[in-house]
Amino acid sequence: MEIIVKRDYEEISKCAAEHIAALIKKKPNCVIGFATGGTPIGTYRELIRMHKEGLDFSNVITFNLDEYLGLGLDLSKPYSQDQSYHRFMYEELFNHINIKKENVHIPDGLTKNPEEFCKSYEDAIKEAGGIDLQILGIGGDGHWAFNEPGSSLESRTRIEELNEQTLNDNYEAFYKKAGFTRDDMPHYAITMGVGTILETKSILMLAYGSKKAEIVAKALRGPVTNQITASAIQLYKGKATVILDEDAASMLDETQSSESVS
Ligand code: F6R
Repeated sequence: MEIIVKRDYEEISKCAAEHIAALIKKKPNCVIGFATGGTPIGTYRELIRMHKEGLDFSNVITFNLDEYLGLGLDLSKPYSQDQSYHRFMYEELFNHINIKKENVHIPDGLTKNPEEFCKSYEDAIKEAGGIDLQILGIGGDGHWAFNEPGSSLESRTRIEELNEQTLNDNYEAFYKKAGFTRDDMPHYAITMGVGTILETKSILMLAYGSKKAEIVAKALRGPVTNQITASAIQLYKGKATVILDEDAASMLDETQSSESVS
C-alpha cells in the first residue's frame, strides 16, 4: 500500500486527479469505479479542468459504488428534491466531460427488482473486464461504499441498511443544505460489496480532515475487521494508493506517514 500525504484538500484533489488522468492516458478505454460524497468533489473539479485541456473520456467506462434505494436518475426533479448519487455524478462530473452515457453505470435505486439488479450489476462489471481503478472515500464509521459495520468482507453488490452515523453524516453534508428533514432520507442503499471492491485491479482511497484521522488510522493499521469495512484494504491484492491530507494522516505513526510524503 502506498500512502501519500499532501498538505491540504486542494493538494489531495490534484494528486488524485493526476493519478486518474495517468490511467486514462495509458488506457483510454479503462474502467473506473467512481465514488460520491464530499471527498472526491475537488478531484472531479480537477478532472473537469483537465478535460478542458484535452483529457479524453470518450472511451472510459464507469461503475459507481452505490445509490440510495428509491432514488435514481429522474431529471424531472430539481436538485433540491433529489439527492440521488446519479444526480451527484452528473452535476459534479459527467455533465462536464465527454463521457458517453452508455458507458456510465450507477446502481439503479429505482429498480423494481433490487436483487436481480444487484446480480446484473456484478455481471456488467465482469463483462467490462473488471474495474481498473476504484476510487474510494471512507465513512465516519469506517465504511467503504455503503458497507456498514458488520458487513461481510466477502460481500457482493446488495441492499444495505444505513446506520445512524451514516444517516447523520450524510444529512449534515448534503440533505440539510438542500432543505430536507432527517426523516426524508432514504434508509437503504444499493452498494457494491467489500468482496466486489477487493476484486478491482487498483484502488485510490482518499480522506481529508481531522474528523477522519482516527478512523483512517484504524482502517490502515488496526486489525482487519468487518466493524470497519475499509480495513479490508489490508487484504487487498491489487495496487492500493491512499492519498490523505496532513490532518487525516495525523494519527498514523511516524513510520506510517513517512512512507511517501510529498
Ligand atoms: C459514496 C461512498 C461513501 C463515501 C463515504 C465518505 O459513494 O462510497 O462510502 O465515500 O461515506 O463520504 P464523504 O466523502 O462525504 O466523507
